[in-house]
Amino acid sequence: MNAPEPELLVVRNLVTTFPSDKGEFRAVDGVDLSIRHGEVVCLVGESGSGKSVTGFSIMGLIDKPGKVTADTLSFDGLDLLGISEAGFDRLRGRRIAMVFQEPMTALNPGRTVGNQIAEVFRVHERIGARQAWERAVELMDQVGIREAAKRANAFPHELSGGMRQRVMIAIAFAMKPDLIIADEPTTALDVTLQAQVLELLFSIQAQTGSAVLFITHDLGVVAEIADRVVVMRQGAIVEQGDVEQIFFNPADPYTRALLAAVPDVDAPRDPRRRLSAVAHADTMEAGHD
Ligand SMILES: Nc1ncnc2c1ncn2[C@@H]1O[C@H](COP(=O)(O)OP(=O)(O)OP(=O)(O)O)[C@@H](O)[C@H]1O
Ligand SMILES: [Mg+2]
Repeated sequence: MNAPEPELLVVRNLVTTFPSDKGEFRAVDGVDLSIRHGEVVCLVGESGSGKSVTGFSIMGLIDKPGKVTADTLSFDGLDLLGISEAGFDRLRGRRIAMVFQEPMTALNPGRTVGNQIAEVFRVHERIGARQAWERAVELMDQVGIREAAKRANAFPHELSGGMRQRVMIAIAFAMKPDLIIADEPTTALDVTLQAQVLELLFSIQAQTGSAVLFITHDLGVVAEIADRVVVMRQGAIVEQGDVEQIFFNPADPYTRALLAAVPDVDAPRDPRRRLSAVAHADTMEAGHD
């Protein structure tokens, strides 16, 4: 078997516009970005800089009248701008998946979480309902949801925020996708839960080998998880590099300003340190809801 191409995702001159009173608003304005197989790329930048729109554009989730153009938008050699809606549907959830900030908006409130996870297997693996359900329960167990067989029958509102985010992570990783786009997946959770859910996300990522585009405000987390950091401002990329470069030798004044706003970014030298410190607390939350 041939070795896979190093570049999984290649984005060249991505421009995403929305109509506005003053003409076209360029929410993303010429972004170049690439992600290799298995790589964790963190996308940072102030609120409104275009991080989410970049993620949604890659996922093919920008609705009209929004418009997405690019010189290149290729995923494992596939032209994402050229494929059909149906083609993209087959890709999404199977080879590219997304973890959203607020699971309540991403999950269907009227269906049990077990059903929603099982559906991923039914759609993409065409297995029967019963087998899909069993796989769903197994996966819920893997993402640290206790009494998974029972909880699979719960509706999203019956679970805590942390549990719902675990369900989202289960759905996203179900098919072991090549690429996960995680858009501030923990900001809706309290600080202790944030660490636990992050730990979960990256322990599963280590098992599946999925590449991750991780969108976040939290530069402390970036220092721990990123292979590469991309800094965005006003729809464009101002700087990208590895953690060493961005944190200890930022070239751009905007990056320096972002870092200055964070109290303890000069602390983490060992990227995985803080995450591994919370690994032991991993099942804590499962006990109290
Ligand atoms: N559907 C839309 N229609 C019009 N404008 C939009 C739409 N979605 C986003 N925008 C605008 O595009 C810009 C970038 O938004 P985006 O959500 O990508 O920012 P962000 O970097 O993710 O910010 P945050 O950190 O607050 O999540 C913002 O000015 C936003 O108002
Ligand atoms: Mg956003």
